[in-house]
Amino acid sequence: MALIIDGKKISDTIKQEIKEKTQELINSRGIRPGLAVLLVGEDAASQIYVRSKAKACEDLGFHSLVERMPASASEEEVLALVNRWNNDPSIHGILVQLPLPKQINEVKVLLAISPRKDVDGFHPENLGRLMIGMPGFVSCTPAGIVELLVRSNIELKGKHVVVVGRSNIVGKPVANLLYQKNPRANAIVTICHTAAKDLSYYTKQADILIAAVGVPEVIKSEDVKENVTVIDVGINRIEDPNHPKGSRVVGDVDYHAVFEKAHAITPVPGGVGPMTIAMLMNNTYISAEGSIFNV
Ligand code: GUN
Repeated sequence: MALIIDGKKISDTIKQEIKEKTQELINSRGIRPGLAVLLVGEDAASQIYVRSKAKACEDLGFHSLVERMPASASEEEVLALVNRWNNDPSIHGILVQLPLPKQINEVKVLLAISPRKDVDGFHPENLGRLMIGMPGFVSCTPAGIVELLVRSNIELKGKHVVVVGRSNIVGKPVANLLYQKNPRANAIVTICHTAAKDLSYYTKQADILIAAVGVPEVIKSEDVKENVTVIDVGINRIEDPNHPKGSRVVGDVDYHAVFEKAHAITPVPGGVGPMTIAMLMNNTYISAEGSIFNV
């Protein structure tokens, strides 16, 4: 019987811890963490994400600011707002919800966010800091994956982590986090991706498998070894006529089959997903607390 890594429960615990630390920060230093979120356009998924981020801010006692711009907004308008927030001392974290409309250069916008307020951890300065083990903001899903592993007592030192996927948001940063020389990492890490002729050759070697592929249930039971720990980052909606909604959400891993072989596994939904917002709140708290960029 595999251990089910309950991301909902772990994220609730983390949010409760942040809520308590936030009260202390307000009481002792008069600082209320502030998160500003920009949503450009009408993308349905983005609207849901932005609402959950604002709700989490309210629950934790943060200052929350959400600005909306129409899909026709110009790059200049977006950059001007980011610049205003960069210089606003009541804002400790800035998040520009992605994707952005075509006329706006995403990289230009991410570069404009002050690295000291980049609670998404997408700025090249923060990615560089992560790579060389300097303090900085770590993007939320990778940070959440490490929290899930550490809080579930999954040993990392010397273990072979295989990451499937090389995105800038998940694959690359999570790999960089896990091979660092510190007690919350120190693993041996392999990154594999679509160019692999035989993906299974790699995934079968994993003590810990991190699947961030974006293909529904692509990792099967025969692709993993006995006692593997599986972290499933996938969120894929598939059609299911037996489901009341006509569809349901599955991960990148064939959960029920892999469950039988695994030591531990994250469900989808309820695994990695809830951790992302908890870590965004944590980054915003850390930014407000103010000591992260001491180097
Ligand atoms: N769109 C989907 N996920 C994210 C995220 O984590 N951050 C931002 N900025 N946009 C997203």
